[in-house]
Amino acid sequence: MPDPQLVLAARVRDALAAVLGPSHADADPVIRPSQFADLQANAALALAKKVGRKPRELADEIVAHLDTGDVIAKVEVSGPGFINLTLSDTWIAEQTGRVLADERLAVPPVESPQKVIVEYSSPNVAKEMHVGHLRTTIVGDSIARILEFLGHHVVRDNHVGDWGTPFGMLIEHLLDLGEDAAARDDSSVSDLTAFYQAARQKFDGDPAFAERSRQRVVELQAGDPETLRLWQILVDVSKRYFNSVYARLGVTLSDDDIKGESFYNDMLGPTVQELEDKGIAALSDGALCAFPPGFTGRDGEPLPVIIRKRDGGYNYSTSDLATVRYRVDVEHADRMIYVVGAPQALHFQMVFAVARMAGWLNEEVRAEHAQIGNVLGTDGKILRTRAGGTVKLAELLDEAVERAGRAFDEVPHEEAFDEATRAEIVEAVGIGAVKYADLSVARDSEYVFDFDRMIAFKGNTGPYLQYAAARIRSIFRRGGVDPDTATGPVKIGHPAERALALRLLGFGAAVAQAGESAEPHKLAAYVFSVADAYTSFYENCPVLQAPDEETKASRLALCAATLRTLETGLHLLGVPTPERM
Ligand code: ARG
Repeated sequence: MPDPQLVLAARVRDALAAVLGPSHADADPVIRPSQFADLQANAALALAKKVGRKPRELADEIVAHLDTGDVIAKVEVSGPGFINLTLSDTWIAEQTGRVLADERLAVPPVESPQKVIVEYSSPNVAKEMHVGHLRTTIVGDSIARILEFLGHHVVRDNHVGDWGTPFGMLIEHLLDLGEDAAARDDSSVSDLTAFYQAARQKFDGDPAFAERSRQRVVELQAGDPETLRLWQILVDVSKRYFNSVYARLGVTLSDDDIKGESFYNDMLGPTVQELEDKGIAALSDGALCAFPPGFTGRDGEPLPVIIRKRDGGYNYSTSDLATVRYRVDVEHADRMIYVVGAPQALHFQMVFAVARMAGWLNEEVRAEHAQIGNVLGTDGKILRTRAGGTVKLAELLDEAVERAGRAFDEVPHEEAFDEATRAEIVEAVGIGAVKYADLSVARDSEYVFDFDRMIAFKGNTGPYLQYAAARIRSIFRRGGVDPDTATGPVKIGHPAERALALRLLGFGAAVAQAGESAEPHKLAAYVFSVADAYTSFYENCPVLQAPDEETKASRLALCAATLRTLETGLHLLGVPTPERM
């Protein structure tokens, strides 16, 4: 990888080993961005005490042993022992050329690929998806794309809520409406929220209906074929709806990725049995419980994970334990990422703790809860409609696209688009704006859903980045050059060229960091910084009107590398990039 930080780290590490001996070969060279140079190595300061040396002296000695080769143009020790490193322009130019020449932007696939299960979206059957599900869908999809790009074997897993007691009332309500209603798209069954609410109302107000519903749950759990058939109808209607949302969002989830709660149903018993056999679960007040160490209630009493209720029924924790066990035993996962709302944090901590007690999780097989923060309205409260219900996704996306249309008409365009093309672009802008807004904020922070801010063509927004990429494409069109044939060579003249090239070399590290911590906002921040560096390059360095052919070829190559980086970065975020805007 041409990432300057990694390249310099390796050189400083070699110098450390030469000065302090091979036992220090993997010491952290502590490379940081610096105001005074491209990067700064603080290894001398970090290590001095440990090795009994004066930091300044140690720094001088490291520098004396540093192989500057063709990479480092200037090295300087400052203050108590900072090592300031300035890269050579020639090296930067060469490396930028390598990025441009490589399909993968000079990011090699990881050396030891992992099998990673990325669980995301996970809406509930017969319920409308809401903004919370929207965010886990968007963030999870980007995590999956990033890890796949890095070379891991990614399994997308949509853990749909398709089992449990609500299905009793839902099935009875379906029978009341007539099954064929479910087949019609305009039926009340396809309005999932209304369907759920109507069932709920009958359940609360009509004791006979409630009794029928309870009976139905028993039949469902006993595997009664007729009941399962009715259940399947509801699941299918919901899947159709989920798929329509995924298609509109451009999310890489298909029917094959659905492994809902029902999938683990047969495994609940054996899972509980194994926990009992291992002596992890014991009866407490008639319920079978595990008490993972370190979890206590308000009065210091140990908190249980209930694995089988007093009535013999299983619950959400049982289902998640069976899920971990399956992912370990059958799918042989190395890493499981649960992209789920932050309010479920304690649930997952406790489930994972029990799974560690059972030996399913350990140092080699890791599970992590990638927490998703709440989405708030501009009033700072959890986003709801005026009537107090959760906001419907489809309506939200429609509004985003409509507003994107208005914003789009206010920015200059290279050409007048026909209605169909305009509609296509505006759809990409509206959807891209919503997705980028979700992705650019740390996933575990709450964020305010604010149309005006996310749809602006200025600032850290999806439309700004899409527009930046499209404008680079338009330079190539105006110049009659195919971006794929702009191969340079790159040469560095102006400081803005240097700054842009240096940014472009950081792509691999940004993707790797985003994948490591399952935090797409790190990649989003990087992509934005590239667009920023490009803007100042573009303002300072004429491309098509460059003073000579050599400079023009170099600037076109910088444009092409920027375009590829923006498009690839946005693609990994799942944000579409229209070629013309
Ligand atoms: N269906 C759940 C919900 O909407 C999310 C499922 C989370 N995943 C899990 N393995 N429990 O809240």
